[in-house]
Amino acid sequence: MSELNKIALKIISNGKGILAADESNGTMTKRLESVNVNSTPENRLLFREMLFSSESMKECIGGVILYDETINQTTSFGKSIPDLIYSSGALPGIKVDTGAKDLANSSEEKITEGLDGLRERLKKYYELGARFTKWRGVYTISDIYPSKLAIQSNAHALARYSALVQENKMVPIVEPEVLMDGDHSADSCLKKTSEVIKKCFDELILHKVDISGIILKPNMILAGKQSKNKISNEEISQKTLECLKSSVPSEVPGIAFLSGGQSEIDATENLNLINKNNNTRFIMTYSYGRALQQSALRTWSKNIKNIEAPQNIFNHRAKMCSLAAKGKWSKELENK
Ligand code: 13P
Repeated sequence: MSELNKIALKIISNGKGILAADESNGTMTKRLESVNVNSTPENRLLFREMLFSSESMKECIGGVILYDETINQTTSFGKSIPDLIYSSGALPGIKVDTGAKDLANSSEEKITEGLDGLRERLKKYYELGARFTKWRGVYTISDIYPSKLAIQSNAHALARYSALVQENKMVPIVEPEVLMDGDHSADSCLKKTSEVIKKCFDELILHKVDISGIILKPNMILAGKQSKNKISNEEISQKTLECLKSSVPSEVPGIAFLSGGQSEIDATENLNLINKNNNTRFIMTYSYGRALQQSALRTWSKNIKNIEAPQNIFNHRAKMCSLAAKGKWSKELENK
């Protein structure tokens, strides 16, 4: 087993998953303002240190993805954020892309940037304690999108990113997110997501990335948010498995889904069904942002000095996701 493979497995094994807390300052500002909290560096830190010092971190969270501001912060009780995460047994990770920009010659689509100077930034993040990283490519579905250009260029960037990350002894999370926005069918999502993921692996292999030392972070296969033809959670799990079985090389140790705008309960129930029906050799777990944080954020916003109430909410959510990662979640346990 390579060192990278060991790190990947440490993050996602035994019902553990990833807490995606790497919202950029722009995104975090939207989240905080939606619950009437000022988006200052102090408040962003306060919310995140509340999450990272929760009890469920020990059992349910194998890795936390951070944003540049957060990995450099020190908690109100004097510990660095990476040390706080290490003390719960999890590994700190870092988002290293610099965001999705308009793709030239297909300006309704996006290309993720951040390769310039990446090697040097990675060295700095490793010294700060990061042992894994994230880069998100984003794709929309329509009659003509994602275009071959968007599929090819984002796969190329994800592969160059991954090669540099592994050179610096960290595990790259490869995140090609096909968005839920639109009125497309689940079958269209299945077809386009499979094409996107296959191209990513073509490029990863071309760039000599060690496939056993990455974590894939895909979307689940869903009908578009505006589609009138929604499918059941059972069908979501079947189509998601069909997609991954046919497009992911078997050396990949695991898959950690994004929640992508699904409700907390849907994201949990769908992951549970994926694990119940899992006929692949991949570990299937979560790398959720909103589906782990939303309710906790709402409760915290009512009194940002009270950490117990939002921690209880976060602990429950993390526990439910962890059960789902083992196929052991149920509605009864959810409502207990
Ligand atoms: P969501 O689970 O809220 O989609 O966030 C995951 C993530 O990291 C998106 O890049």
